[in-house]
Parts: sequence; structure tokens; C-alpha cells
Amino acid sequence: MDSSLQNLLSELEQFGEENDQGTSERSQRMLNITRDTGEFLAVLIRATLARQVLEIGTSNGYSTLWLADACNAIGGKVTTVELSEHKYNLAAENFKRSNLSSTIRQVQENAADFLSKSDEGAYDLIFLDSERVEYPGWWPDLKRVIRPGGLLVADNALSHPEEIKAFILMVEADPDFTTSLVPVGKGEFLATRSIDKNS
Ligand SMILES: C[S@@+](CC[C@H](N)C(=O)[O-])C[C@H]1O[C@@H](n2cnc3c(N)ncnc32)[C@H](O)[C@@H]1O
Repeated sequence: MDSSLQNLLSELEQFGEENDQGTSERSQRMLNITRDTGEFLAVLIRATLARQVLEIGTSNGYSTLWLADACNAIGGKVTTVELSEHKYNLAAENFKRSNLSSTIRQVQENAADFLSKSDEGAYDLIFLDSERVEYPGWWPDLKRVIRPGGLLVADNALSHPEEIKAFILMVEADPDFTTSLVPVGKGEFLATRSIDKNS
């Protein structure tokens, strides 16, 4: 990672921490992933050559920059979806300050609507970091748009176990997915879609 991106990420970490300590209003908080989660996502993308990455929940773009840097290294792209116009605009400013704008496709939309229009098997890796109680409703589209052999990663599996429990149980019960809960950052729930070995 180049030093200008390192500096931008460090600045955003400080901003996120100070901002989130200063407000209890959820819509104003950045709620960024931890640095070790960014490192973990970067390893997953590079190791699995995940060239088509989807992020649900951009906030101000901190996690997107981790995803985009890894995608850029392997010739991939990240699409990131955010409902809030305010946060979409904050992220757009941060992406302009990085050298990664051409690797990032920003969408301002409700994730449910975005997913319902997305093609089957469109993404190699989906990073889910949004309203956890919505995930079970999104599952039919999420499982459709992850390609066979692709990977879903959901944040906050250990920090908010009650909110994410119904979703985890739903995915674990799906015979097309193999799962693991990884104690990195706020807890990353991983689920990979099976391939059809005969096709
Ligand atoms: C935990 S924050 C994302 C943090 C970001 N991934 C990071 O680490 O920098 C969750 C984001 O999801 C957005 N969000 C909530 N509901 C959404 C929805 N239905 N569709 C798209 N984005 C949504 C919120 O506005 C918020 O910015």
C-alpha cells in the first residue's frame, strides 16, 4: 500500500473515532471497520482473486478504500452501496483524495433495491456492513448474486450477536454454503457458496 493511502486511512481512523465519540446519533456516526478487518479483507481479496467485489454500507468510505486497494492490485473493481446521501457525499470526497477512484463504483441506493436488480453470480466477494436486522430479508438476493465459489463476509458477528443471529442461523442452515466465524475486529462471519463440481 502506498504511503499516501496509508496516511488517508490513518486520518480517517482518527476522524471516525473522534466523530463517533462525539455523537450518539447513529446516522451521524461513521461506524468504520477496524484496521485489522481492513487487512483481513485485503488478504481475502488477494488470495481468492476476487475481482468483482460488492460492499453494502459505504459510510464515509474507510472500508471501501481497503477493498479498493486490494482490488486494484489484482485488476478488480469494488461497487459500494450507501443509502444516506450525506455519507455518500463524504465518501465521494475521500475517494477523490485517493488514487483509487477508477476502481470504485459508488451507488446511492437502498441495498434491497440494488440487490434485487443485480445479476445472478455477479460478485466474487460481498462485504456486508449495514443494518443487520435487514440481512435475512436480503438473503435470497444475496445468495443469488454471489457466484458459486464466491465469499460473503459480514461484519459485527461478535460485537452484535443478537442482531445478526437470525441471519447467521439462516445462512448456516443453507446447504449451499459453508461458514466460519472469524474473531478478527468486530467478528467476521464468512460464508462461501458451493460450486457444482460436475459443471
Ligand atoms: C456500519 S456503517 C458502514 C461502515 C463502513 N463499511 C466502513 O467500515 O467504513 C453502515 C452503513 O450502512 C448504511 N445503510 C443502512 N441501511 C442501508 C440500506 N438499506 N442500504 C444501503 N445502505 C444502508 C448506513 O447509512 C451506514 O452508512
